[in-house]
Amino acid sequence: MSFVINNDRRMMINAQSKGQLHRGGTIMEYKFSEKVQTLKPSAIRELFKLMVGDGIVALSGGNPAKEAFPEKEIAEITQKILTENPIAALQYSISEGYTPLREQIAEYVKTNFNIGTEEDAVLITSGAQQANDMAVKIFCDEGDAIACDETIFIGSLSAIKANNVKLVGVKGDDSGMLPEQLEEAIATNPIKAVYLIPNFSNPTGLTMPLERRKAIYEVCKKHDIIIIEDNPYGELRFRGEHVPAFKSFDDAGIVCYSGSFSKVVAPGLRVGFMIANKKIIDRGTLLKQFTDVHTNILAQMIVYEYYKNYNIKKHIAEVSAFYAKKSEYMCKLIREKLPKEIKCIEPDGGMFVWCTDTSGKIDIDELVQKLVSEKKVAIISGDVFITNNSKSHSFRLNFTVPSMEQIEYGITSIGEVLNGLYAK
Ligand SMILES: Cc1ncc(COP(=O)(O)O)c(C=O)c1O
Repeated sequence: MSFVINNDRRMMINAQSKGQLHRGGTIMEYKFSEKVQTLKPSAIRELFKLMVGDGIVALSGGNPAKEAFPEKEIAEITQKILTENPIAALQYSISEGYTPLREQIAEYVKTNFNIGTEEDAVLITSGAQQANDMAVKIFCDEGDAIACDETIFIGSLSAIKANNVKLVGVKGDDSGMLPEQLEEAIATNPIKAVYLIPNFSNPTGLTMPLERRKAIYEVCKKHDIIIIEDNPYGELRFRGEHVPAFKSFDDAGIVCYSGSFSKVVAPGLRVGFMIANKKIIDRGTLLKQFTDVHTNILAQMIVYEYYKNYNIKKHIAEVSAFYAKKSEYMCKLIREKLPKEIKCIEPDGGMFVWCTDTSGKIDIDELVQKLVSEKKVAIISGDVFITNNSKSHSFRLNFTVPSMEQIEYGITSIGEVLNGLYAK
């Protein structure tokens, strides 16, 4: 994450030029809260460290491709808003979010995905990240537990732990979490919620079929357990049929749905949303009032105007088609160039390919290190996403950021290093 390093440097340079590098005192020994102590700093550092660097071919990132940004349109919209309506865009606003955007989202998800009933409401959040964190805060006290897949998105893993909530990894198969395993986890842990990424999961790329969604839903409904449905990638499908969201058949009001504009418009805008029963949204609004008051209002207006005046469907279709080509190419190369022991999950959408060493012989940390030092290729070890402390036999590859040439070089390099490791 080079901008942090740059900011640190800039602060140092400013301090140096003003002669303030040290005040001469002894800096106190900080007693950090357990919440932040339990975070996995090395994992987060590793993630960002491997994303950038001179000449590094990064298959490690999780960003949208630079070609996927509607930057010209956003520039036009921003100019128009700041010319015609500057104070509304720069003034404090309401915590629920920009009303036209909330109405627009409600209509969009109802029309396209049958999400939302009269009992539900929309809360604008600072990305799906904040919606997920809020759902945890709304339903869990310290010591409670959340069930999730055995490997989960690091941002959610950290948010759950930072709330002093226990993570219970539940076994799954090719269709995702197993209902009987979830039952077992509920019987032995104080589980308040289940966290799921049902479409093109990060990190595994898996999509949960409808039948499995319904089975998991029934288990949760029976035990009064909330489902946090995290769906930032849902619209980036490039193969197969749409699978209805949990929220679309949520007759008991147990689903907190997290949506995002990060992957279809721009992540830097930090605009996402939660859709849930009005009583849940009321609690979320209270939380937002003292967390960050409201999501950046200019960014909310930009998203609203973009959906209103431009062709979002066309944009999403183009981005998905672009990602499809890259994903297919990466998977083809994996089949051709990686040893047969490596099995990958070919995704139907999203941004990631998950590879597993079925022999269990490869030390994935060694693979990661060798790739960086010998080939200048960065990948992410599965260890980063694991809910317990076991060693992962998997690694995650991103296909959205690297070019076709980089994908080819990256996968060829992984094949060469793996062949060397198997031959040891
Ligand atoms: C599964 C998942 N959930 C949530 C997020 C956070 O997205 P946002 O930018 O909307 O906060 C990400 C980002 O990569 C993600 O992969």
